[in-house]
Amino acid sequence: GLPEQVRIHEVGARDGLQNEALPLPVEVKAEFVARLAAAGLRTVEATSFVHPKWVPQLADAEQLMPLLADLPQRYPGLRLPVLVPNERGLDRALSHGVTDIAVFASATETFARRNLNRSLDESLEMFAPVVARAAAEGVRVRGYLSMCFGDPWEGPVPLPQVVDVARRLLELGCDELSLGDTIGVATPGQVTALLEGLAGAGATADRLAVHFHDTYGQALANTLAALRFGVATVDASAGGLGGCPYAKSATGNLATEDLVWMLHGLGIRTGVDLEALAATSVWLADRLGRPSPSRAVRALTGG
Ligand code: HMG
Ligand code: MG
Repeated sequence: GLPEQVRIHEVGARDGLQNEALPLPVEVKAEFVARLAAAGLRTVEATSFVHPKWVPQLADAEQLMPLLADLPQRYPGLRLPVLVPNERGLDRALSHGVTDIAVFASATETFARRNLNRSLDESLEMFAPVVARAAAEGVRVRGYLSMCFGDPWEGPVPLPQVVDVARRLLELGCDELSLGDTIGVATPGQVTALLEGLAGAGATADRLAVHFHDTYGQALANTLAALRFGVATVDASAGGLGGCPYAKSATGNLATEDLVWMLHGLGIRTGVDLEALAATSVWLADRLGRPSPSRAVRALTGG
């Protein structure tokens, strides 16, 4: 059967905006996050505490966090996770009182080097003290695993390799693992095969999330395959914003509106007000100067 309720992990303000050529004023970013919370999203990834030269779009993390400080009181249960690659990033995040962080690994050697300037082994060594210190501070840790199905430089990624890195991330102490199809090449049979492989290695669906990109129009089909397997946390990006700065072929993330349309149609609760969310994506698209690629946003708003 399908889950009765799905937690949507909204990544537009981070995964989406990290990819925009046009820098947005920090006040607009803060309003975006506030509007996402007002639309009923309860996990809204806010920004990244990475090196500002690597991702200049999110170099304003220090300015953004104070503007979000009152949101958890206004919206009980709201979580505002941030990406943290290393201890320097964790120090920065903790100084803003974050309660949720995410480290981000790659299933492939090439993307580990391009994204983290480290070999795969070295990147896991970099994360180990981050996860341990976060746990000691009572901070919840998500582990992202990118390139679970294909890699722009290495091609198809062998399933045992993905399962191995996933297992190592969970062993570090990550509370949740998000399986990323960073370049959007997966099809549903591959999703089921990976989830079966992970279950065989002890990683059950309750600790997993899925993160699909819609490059080949497969994101919703892949999501449905994961839901059938019992996964109940799904990543999505409002309006379909974003890709990944080091993976040129990665077009948009699964649009949150497209996801919500499917989930509500299946009778699965999300807590999201779809009209308010689509209006938010149109508002942001106006600020970015181009329309949202989301089919549901266009259908709902005529824009
Ligand atoms: P590095 O150059 O190897 O860093 O970068 P380093 O450790 O050698 O340090 C060099 C200098 O940077 C030092 O300063 C550090 O203090 C400073 P110096 O002593 O020379 O003055 N530094 C920092 N400053 C601020 N904040 C920090 C930080 N760390 C070091 N956190 C590093 C290594 C990991 C830092 C770099 O490669 C980096 O920031 N990478 C992040 C890339 C990124 O954000 N990519 C996008 C996210 S992943 C993604 O989008 C995929 C995902 O969405 C899922 C999917 O779709 O698959 C998650
Ligand atoms: Mg993504």
